[in-house]
Amino acid sequence: MNEKQRKESSQIKQDTHANLDRLKKMDSDELIGKYFQSTYQPPNLKKAKKRLKKDVDIHYDFSIPEDMKGIGKDKKFLIRTYGCQMNEHDTEVMAGLLTDLGYQPAEDTSEADVILLNTCAIRENAENKVFGEIGHLKPLKMENPDLIIGVCGCMSQEESVVNRILKKHPFVDMIFGTHNIHRLPSLLKEAMFSKAMVVEVWSKEGDIIENLPKVRKGNIKAWVNIMYGCDKFCTYCIVPYTRGKERSRLPEDIIQEVRQLAAQGYQEVTLLGQNVNAYGKDLEFEYGLGDLMEEIRKIDIPRVRFTTSHPRDFDDRLIEVLAKGGNLLDHIHLPVQSGSSDVLRIMARRYTREDYLELVRKIREAMPNATLTTDIIVGFPNETDEQFEETMTLMKEVGFEAAYTFIYSPREGTPAARWEDNIPMEVKKERLQRLNALVNEQSKSAMEKYEGQVVKVLVEGESKKDPEVLSGYTERNKLVNFKASKSLIGKIVPVKITKAKTWSLDGELVEMTSGVY
Ligand code: 5AD
Ligand code: SF4
Repeated sequence: MNEKQRKESSQIKQDTHANLDRLKKMDSDELIGKYFQSTYQPPNLKKAKKRLKKDVDIHYDFSIPEDMKGIGKDKKFLIRTYGCQMNEHDTEVMAGLLTDLGYQPAEDTSEADVILLNTCAIRENAENKVFGEIGHLKPLKMENPDLIIGVCGCMSQEESVVNRILKKHPFVDMIFGTHNIHRLPSLLKEAMFSKAMVVEVWSKEGDIIENLPKVRKGNIKAWVNIMYGCDKFCTYCIVPYTRGKERSRLPEDIIQEVRQLAAQGYQEVTLLGQNVNAYGKDLEFEYGLGDLMEEIRKIDIPRVRFTTSHPRDFDDRLIEVLAKGGNLLDHIHLPVQSGSSDVLRIMARRYTREDYLELVRKIREAMPNATLTTDIIVGFPNETDEQFEETMTLMKEVGFEAAYTFIYSPREGTPAARWEDNIPMEVKKERLQRLNALVNEQSKSAMEKYEGQVVKVLVEGESKKDPEVLSGYTERNKLVNFKASKSLIGKIVPVKITKAKTWSLDGELVEMTSGVY
């Protein structure tokens, strides 16, 4: 930006300030009609629900618009990420785009010229955190009207969120969704020069854009998207609305990305999708996750993980390929959500308790040492004490070694949100506490089995609690802390486990004789 443009932009922002109080007094319709003549393309959850037949096009020709190159020179950006790995990876893409515009990463909000909140809509408390953070950013914006504040990610896909931001937080400069991340450079430009809040959220998913730049966090582990969206429509879940229909990347594009990561020295990749087991269903040829894993296991990269699985689509071909081992690790995260077939039916999970147990039996038969972990929701509408007890017994029967446990949170626009959220909060909390106590117990006893054993640890860095200690994960995803030279960071090393804790293991480095582990 030249000096004239800078002044112009600064003046515009000051005008915006003067209008903040006036804006607060208007309702959102008035705001849209009178004030927002800039890009205003709000989300619509009903449209997002529709699954159209239209094929998804794949583009390989993305480039930064000529007039945007260098606009971030001498400027800094900060992206706060909430929610799942998919969001973490989207943040890496946005960091890539901003870096290509010339921006540098900022250490904290006070030195940033652009702040993006990459949000999560999965539960109400995730959303509350974001609204809290938006509130905290207001004084910064008051101090520095040139600061650009953007809200993106899953929350932006919800009409209610966009309306609330318009009404209560008009100092936000731009809102964009999960389907148009590649539009960030143009939206940023518009936000810099526009008086109005720039809102561009596509309710219908867009095409797949293959060659977006990425700045990955770290050089040891990498995320690789294999598909986007979800068509499962579990009755409690907002994801099929915020992330659109299932769209698979082509196998050759994924394989090429993993090969490149291997060549760059990455030690681990995690294949990502909201429902990775549906991978390939939308492709024009017969191809599934099992076929993809068969190809990826031939690539020279030490560790390959995948997440998140849906039990319904977890097929025999995948089990057969996973059982071959090698770089395919035997840790499977398999969200069950409830142990009661009746609750599962109302959740529209499309499997019963018995189906799930049969799948676990097949996995165990093929991979006797596999670690299973899961996700569970407690307090779903009408969940009885007996039904909750079925979740407790399933937890034991499968022997999950870890579980992410959640209190049900109604999400506007989903079918379950129309049903009365009729389990009292004390009951939900009590169920969660009992479940968590069992999860802790099972995690601890799984950890204890490792005492005295030697495990392979991918060393990620210094432990968060003690810089003298190194930490990393085993193949089955157990956190290990041990003292050794920092030169081992990024390597896979043998560690003898000396002590098991509930959620981690302490160990000692085993002297390496051959250097190959
Ligand atoms: N309330 C509570 N938990 C939810 N999850 C998804 N939607 C909801 C909701 N509305 C949980 C599920 C899912 C995980 C990512 O979040 O357990 O597997
Ligand atoms: Fe949250 Fe789901 Fe969006 Fe991930 S995809 S950020 S978990 S709502």
